[in-house]
This record gives sequence, C-alpha cells and structure tokens, in this order.
Amino acid sequence: MKTFTPRRRFLCTTLAAGTAAALALPALASSRRSMPAMTEGPFYPPRAWRERWDDWDADLSRVQRGGQVLTARGEALGIEASVADTNGRIIDNAEVEIWQCDATATYHHPNVKQTPGQFDPGFQGFGAARSAADGTVRFRTIKPVPYPGRTPHIHLLLRHASFGKLVTQLFVAGDPGNEGDFLWRRVRDDLRSTLTMQLQAAPADSGLRWQARHTLVVPA
Ligand SMILES: [Fe+2]
Repeated sequence: MKTFTPRRRFLCTTLAAGTAAALALPALASSRRSMPAMTEGPFYPPRAWRERWDDWDADLSRVQRGGQVLTARGEALGIEASVADTNGRIIDNAEVEIWQCDATATYHHPNVKQTPGQFDPGFQGFGAARSAADGTVRFRTIKPVPYPGRTPHIHLLLRHASFGKLVTQLFVAGDPGNEGDFLWRRVRDDLRSTLTMQLQAAPADSGLRWQARHTLVVPA
C-alpha cells in the first residue's frame, strides 16, 4: 500500500478552471461539517473482480473492454468536486472512488446477473481518481437513477492518511425520492447539504447534460 503525504493547504476560493468552472463554489460556511458516513451497501465491486479489466478511470460514461469502446446510456453528468477538511484545508492526493447503478438500475458487481436489456455494458459502474494539488477531482458519469427502494444516489469512498477512510453517498438536490428514502431520512437535517449535489444544465458544447460542483468535506 502506498503511503500518502498529507500535503494540505488552506482552501482558496479560486479553483482550477474546468468543465464546471462557471458554477459557484458551495458556501464554505455550510460545508465545514464533514459528510456523515453511510453504509457501503452490497455493491462495492471487489478489487479482485475489477482486476479482470483495467478501465476503471474517472470516466464512467465510456467503457473500454478488449479494444471495444462503448458509451453509457443515461444523462451524462460531470462532477467537479474538491476535497477539503472541516478546517477548510484542501486535501490533495486523496483516493476517491464512486460507484452507482447504470441507467437500467443494475449495479455492476460479481453478484449481480447481467441480463441483456437490463444491463448497460457501456457504463463502467465504478470509477476512481485522486484529488489534484488543488484538491479537485473530476468524474464523468450519468445522472443517478432510482434503484428499487432507493432514491437516486452515487456511492462514494475517500481514503487519505490524514483522515483514513470515509464511505458515504451523494444525492441529487430536489429529487422527489429523497424524502422517502430510508437512508436519506437517517441523515441529520443539518448534514444533508454535505451529501447533496446541485445539478445544473451543462453547456451545449460540453457533451454533458448535467454538471455539478460539490465540496467533499472530510474530518480534520
Ligand atoms: Fe446503492
């Protein structure tokens, strides 16, 4: 296991330009509380299973398998996140992993049957990246869809020497399913904003339908 150097700097309000650069940075005052830990759930794809392929990058909307490139169904979503702790310090070189079900509401996991028509082979299902020197990490994925019994969500795992490991979930602001979701309801009212992405329509030339900018606040 690689040892990380917790090189941290104070979060500044001018972050690197990117696909979501025009979006306003979420107010720090409401971001200083850490994202609460949530269940990993049953669909975290095991590393041994993932080693069958090597395309587990930060673009979940394209899959490269054996020389073939497939594109995901669903509404493309760009996420530009910054990793920072509750003291406002940015965390670089954090491992950030996300996983979610595809547009047919099927998780990509060895225990889930891949039924033709109820499985999207063009969706990567899981992606990983590391936060850059300015704490930024970007993913390209699809807008999460409802899963039977659950509101749309994206699972999130962060690892870094400074805080260890944090497993949680991200939600979509304003989704009508949130209020009825049994896990969302367990999150304290005043912490829900830490897990809730505000989706905005993406520029026409971005190749995305949606974009979101969110600060991933971890314990100091
Ligand atoms: Fe889930």
